[in-house]
Amino acid sequence: MNTWVKDAIVYQIYPRSFKDSNNDGIGDINGVRSKLDYLEQLGINTLWLSPVYDSPCDDNGYDIRDYQTILAEFGTMQDFDLLLEECHQRGMKLVMDLVINHCSDEHEWFEQSKLSKTGPYADYFYWADKPNDLKSVFGGSAWDYCESRQQFYLHTFSKKQPDLNWECSDLVSEIERMVDWWLDKGVDGFRVDAISFLDKSGIEDAPNGTFATEACVNRPKGHTHLRKLMSKVHTRDVLSVGEINARGTSELLDYVLPSRNEFQMAIVFTPPEIEVFHENLNQYYKDQIKVRIEVQRQGAWNANFLSNHDKPRQVSLYGDDGEFWLQAAKALAVLNLTQHGTPYLYQGEEIGMTNCYFDEISDYDDIDTIAKFQEQLENGLSSEQALALVSKASRDNSRTPMQWDSSTFAGFSKVTPWLKVNENKSTINVKSQEQDAESILQFYKQLIEFRLGSETLKTGDTSLHETADPIIAYQRQGDSCTYLVIVNLSSEVVLAPSLPESQTARLMFGEALSEYLPPYYFAIYKY
Ligand code: GLC
Ligand code: CA
Repeated sequence: MNTWVKDAIVYQIYPRSFKDSNNDGIGDINGVRSKLDYLEQLGINTLWLSPVYDSPCDDNGYDIRDYQTILAEFGTMQDFDLLLEECHQRGMKLVMDLVINHCSDEHEWFEQSKLSKTGPYADYFYWADKPNDLKSVFGGSAWDYCESRQQFYLHTFSKKQPDLNWECSDLVSEIERMVDWWLDKGVDGFRVDAISFLDKSGIEDAPNGTFATEACVNRPKGHTHLRKLMSKVHTRDVLSVGEINARGTSELLDYVLPSRNEFQMAIVFTPPEIEVFHENLNQYYKDQIKVRIEVQRQGAWNANFLSNHDKPRQVSLYGDDGEFWLQAAKALAVLNLTQHGTPYLYQGEEIGMTNCYFDEISDYDDIDTIAKFQEQLENGLSSEQALALVSKASRDNSRTPMQWDSSTFAGFSKVTPWLKVNENKSTINVKSQEQDAESILQFYKQLIEFRLGSETLKTGDTSLHETADPIIAYQRQGDSCTYLVIVNLSSEVVLAPSLPESQTARLMFGEALSEYLPPYYFAIYKY
């Protein structure tokens, strides 16, 4: 793997919510361009742009209508080219989101496929005369009827996201051409969306009531398709990261072992509900560390992240967004930036943005949240109960506009944004944290710089200490030094673990160990 990938600190931009340059309430590419100084100063060297392709935005751009055009709301191809050029001038890389499990029902391929059972596009999608009882991720059946073809088409996600048929060689060639086109343009790699479901053969026979995502996950032929595509991608100087679904470490390894030539690293998708309603998140987080240790032992590379556009805010989920907000956000930063692999930050994480806690379902936009809300109403819950349940895991928690300052629309826009601004923008925003030496933002800057300068933190061996919850402690051992990282991932005061190394070590970040550790205590020792 290229050195720059090992050195990457990736910052995910959700363009709709990052910065609105022309004051129409929607974030855009020129908005991103206007914040490159900010990102550079933070220490970011790689951007991952969530989809900016032309799309009817049924799922906010993850439903692509044209892979080689920029969504008008986001700007033009010229704006994109400038963004790419300006990133490169600064020595920053730009990684695109690549959505190839499905496209939009408004894509030309689907428009054509709908028309004929025999035409050139007939097999670009999955068509069946009789649907089975397979469920889609965003509610309802995974099959929808098409009048003109008098057949049903498969959609793992919303009905406006028909699944592409990877058995169709013409389709695969079109995708390969499109991917090459972006690489020729100079983009620095891809985050490949929802890639575990490429092999749908025999889906008609899936057991009733299963989700399409369960029925066709991680099958061998899906890996074959992927390898064919990615071995071409990897002839270029790129970063590749797959968003995968894995039931255990071995399914994860199937995507990331270097010998397989599929991805350099993977972001494992976990339905937010699993984490939000988990009874012991400490244990859960420790288990994730164990998985990463195994990935590392097997000679593969990790992708570390706390949040993204599909998850609640990290400080609300794993930490505390009330009394211990500041300390919790810093402790989480320590966890994300001291493990093996490439760290990913999601916009706003660096200032500790929190969940949004809207009062009305009408304030939410996310297709997933709205579908789940409906489902709960059908289950007999009142709308208050349904909202209380679905809002915790809502993807809108992480999609509210970026909080640049304390003004009415948080410096994101001068007009009412597409999604409400979080009310706490008056206390949580970039501007105030830039002026505060103790802020989360300043802490991120220091920690990123520290990580970039440390080979041990990037590649050193990892071993987890056996500590009682809620303490998480691990070591990173390199050729020249060893780091010991200790975090109390809770709002309780706890008894310190006995870690002999810490006696002689030098404290690099946080507070020295004492008998009792305060809420969200953290320390990085070097010895
Ligand atoms: C991925 C994306 C998510 C999207 C889904 C369908 O999980 O991250 O936002 O809804 O795929 O494309
Ligand atoms: Ca705009």
